[in-house]
Amino acid sequence: MYSSTKLVACVLIVAQLLGAIQCGVYDNTDSWLLSDKSKAFPENAVLGGYDSYGYENFVGRVLYSSSILPARVRAETGYATYNTDSIANQVTSYELLLSNETVSYDWVRSFDGFRERNAVSVGTSAANERVYVCRGRTDGGIFIGTLYLAQKVCFIRYENLPMRQLSKYEVLVRKHTPAAFTPFEVLVNELNNTQ
Ligand SMILES: *[C@@H]1O[C@H](CO)[C@@H](O)[C@H](O)[C@H]1NC(C)=O
Repeated sequence: MYSSTKLVACVLIVAQLLGAIQCGVYDNTDSWLLSDKSKAFPENAVLGGYDSYGYENFVGRVLYSSSILPARVRAETGYATYNTDSIANQVTSYELLLSNETVSYDWVRSFDGFRERNAVSVGTSAANERVYVCRGRTDGGIFIGTLYLAQKVCFIRYENLPMRQLSKYEVLVRKHTPAAFTPFEVLVNELNNTQ
């Protein structure tokens, strides 16, 4: 019987031999702001859920071990945590997802690694697959988690709680809003009023 450490080491060696280990690449489709607790929290950060203590968690991303991963960030304290499909960790510096007048974000119900239209990808993993942002209700909160489509579950591991693997979850998707339309008459009236 091999110990799990040995198994992991073997998997890494085999992966290296095959040249499968890649560096995570950030996805630049969306706007992300590098931040930490010393910076003012942006008003247009995207809400993702709340943790067991009732703190709201906003959507962030971090680089960990050659993978770009979703993070959950508390506005009040800048406390940020994330998880892979095995480990849970915390960081002091992270990027926050921002919405604006034309792009906003929604959560849609999904399951089994189905690829949702306009799903937000944070970047790629060490295995060079896209990493998506999911969330699910567990452990007295709604937690942002990590979705690798091939693994078909939303991985959520928070602090010392056990790893959760949800096959039903929600996925973060991008929504384009057309710029506000200003009727011609309003423009003319404003012009007349200023004369
Ligand atoms: C809004 O965000 C999108 C996606 O990040 C970006 O492409 C676009 O330029 C932004 N629009 C404005 C008005 O800042």
